[in-house]
Amino acid sequence: MGSEFSVKKMNFMFWVLMVLVIETQLIRCSVTYDRKALVINGQRKILISGSIHYPRSTPEMWEDLIMKAKEGGLDVIDTYVFWNGHEPSPGNYNFEGRYDLVRFLKIIQKAGLYAHLRIGPYICGEWNFGGFPVWLKYIPGISFRTDNGPFKFHPTIIYYYQAHEAMQSFTEKIVDLMKSHNLFQSQGGPIILSQIENEYGKQRESIGEDGYNYMVWAANMAVRTQTGVPWIMCKDDETPDPLINTCNGFYCHQFTPNRPYKPKLWTEAWSGWFTEFGGSISQRPVQDLAFAVARFIQTGGSLVNYYMYHGGTNFGRTAGGPFITTSYDYDAPLDEYGLIRQPKFGHLRELHKAIKLCEKALVAAEPLVTDLGPLQQAHVFYPEKGGCAAFLANYDTKSGARVMFNNRHYSLPPWSISILPDCRNVVFNTAKVGVQTSHMEMVPSGADIIEWESYNEDILALGDGSTITAIGLLDQLNMTRDSTDYLWYRTSVEIDPSEHFLHSGELPTLVMKSTGHAVHVFVNGKHIGSAFGARKDRKVNFSEKVNLQPGANKISLLSVAVGLPNVGAHFERWDMGILGPVVLHGLNQGQRDLSSNRWTYQVGLKGESMNLASPNSVSMARWMDSKLAVQNQQPLMWHKSYFDAPEGDEPLALDMKSMGKGQVWINGQSIGRYWTTEARGDCKNCTYAGRFKPPNCQVGCGKPSQRW
Ligand code: GAL
Repeated sequence: MGSEFSVKKMNFMFWVLMVLVIETQLIRCSVTYDRKALVINGQRKILISGSIHYPRSTPEMWEDLIMKAKEGGLDVIDTYVFWNGHEPSPGNYNFEGRYDLVRFLKIIQKAGLYAHLRIGPYICGEWNFGGFPVWLKYIPGISFRTDNGPFKFHPTIIYYYQAHEAMQSFTEKIVDLMKSHNLFQSQGGPIILSQIENEYGKQRESIGEDGYNYMVWAANMAVRTQTGVPWIMCKDDETPDPLINTCNGFYCHQFTPNRPYKPKLWTEAWSGWFTEFGGSISQRPVQDLAFAVARFIQTGGSLVNYYMYHGGTNFGRTAGGPFITTSYDYDAPLDEYGLIRQPKFGHLRELHKAIKLCEKALVAAEPLVTDLGPLQQAHVFYPEKGGCAAFLANYDTKSGARVMFNNRHYSLPPWSISILPDCRNVVFNTAKVGVQTSHMEMVPSGADIIEWESYNEDILALGDGSTITAIGLLDQLNMTRDSTDYLWYRTSVEIDPSEHFLHSGELPTLVMKSTGHAVHVFVNGKHIGSAFGARKDRKVNFSEKVNLQPGANKISLLSVAVGLPNVGAHFERWDMGILGPVVLHGLNQGQRDLSSNRWTYQVGLKGESMNLASPNSVSMARWMDSKLAVQNQQPLMWHKSYFDAPEGDEPLALDMKSMGKGQVWINGQSIGRYWTTEARGDCKNCTYAGRFKPPNCQVGCGKPSQRW
């Protein structure tokens, strides 16, 4: 009897233990939500998050950026997933180097932070083609971001392209990759949230029923991947359950989720704004940003993500646009080089500390709102279990206010919020910056590059095997498939010796339109002019007198892309380049339309096909001393030089002030496009008080939008 009893007892203990283990396991690993907040490990959280996009820095920088973000008071790192970087051609994946997403997430995990994975896979983000691989555009019957089989996932894709990815397959690919490394919080990993699509609301409305069906499909498809963590959709009020709809904007206090049982989350609190070639640089005052964040939290918000916390660099040809600069600095708390930008970083850090001191009250109570004056309010959080936190706000943009709260006087500067984690003592006011301003200065590295060699790009080259001839003008994107920024359009024009202009000296005019983004025009090998689109008017109009000769004349037009658009729907309809008309005016017959001529197309530059940018390229290129090359300068030239890497590990930049427009490679890696075109427009001085909206607070007019 005795021994039977003891065995039973042991059995019983065993079961109790098992249950406990399973229970704690479940609690440890679950992420859910309720009307107040995301619930992690069974606890509601106020989360401060920041966007850091892994391909916009180098893997060597990641740990430093993430540790700085942690020091700045962040709990979460938010990133998009960059489809066109991960799948450059159908079925060929790249998860290496700057695209090593797993490594990036493991660094986040090691730092003890959470991650929000915004898979998209449409991501906008000023990223080339909004993140879509350009090859997707050429899948027969595809229509982007709508209820379309080939886009979502359709057997025809397998048939035509042998099992490559459309939206569903890519999403599943990423989820599976994350699962295989145990990266979801449900597996003990850092990912607590995932996003499907991006700001679909407006598109959905404009598309109608197909848009709605696609959105519902996307949501269900995402949920079926069973990540164990919630999915969100940003900026779409119709977001179906169980997905959470979230807000993006400069301010989000007025946002309410579409169901009362969802938390109020802000996925893009814009810390500044992006820059375009020819545009000035935005600077969002940190007082206003802090005010917006505090206002969001006081109205019940529980997650704020700074877009961007570190903007970084659009390396290579990854910038979207057109005309997005290589720098994606964004006036973020960490600057393009990963250096701390003060007072933005420090002031936000203080704000985050103050918010965290209120966390218990914030997650446990609804705000009680009382008016303290005509433009002043108190938001007070009194949890039933005790404690109290208050936010005292002054919305007046001009005057400060003295208010009475809980029988005490408080002074509130204009457009500011004071935070009182105990409902008595002010620990932080959004307008009072106690952090010193830092000034980033470029200092010479000592690695002056003096000796240069140059190579004249071949203007006349034709027929090296890579040309196509066709009647009429063809779409540049279709021709290049975005393998290069450059496409040559060449044709020949026969001029009769009896032409009037040959004797009168009144030259004919070549008139041409291009959908973008720049064009260089050569007649009989001579450069006769260039035209550039501008960020406000992307189309290019060219009109120049041309010196033609009797007989055959060669007209060569070099069309140049400066990043593919990243915003909108129906990417399948976009075309670009010289789509006509191309017309010669002032001939005997009046005008001659060359648009339906026989045109010969050459994809890319000669120097590109010779791989001149690679340090290992063995080519027949005739480089010459730059001093000699300058004498017979034509507008298309390659320059190269060797330099010793400067000592130390400070960030380095190249001063491109003396250059025009092109691309730069170091050790064979493209660090991006450059274009020293000046910023036009109004630069408006900025006050922190009042709604921030570009073009307010712009600097740098009259200077290159990007010099470094
Ligand atoms: C948002 C978009 C982001 C980014 C931002 C501007 O609307 O979701 O991807 O493009 O605008 O920087």
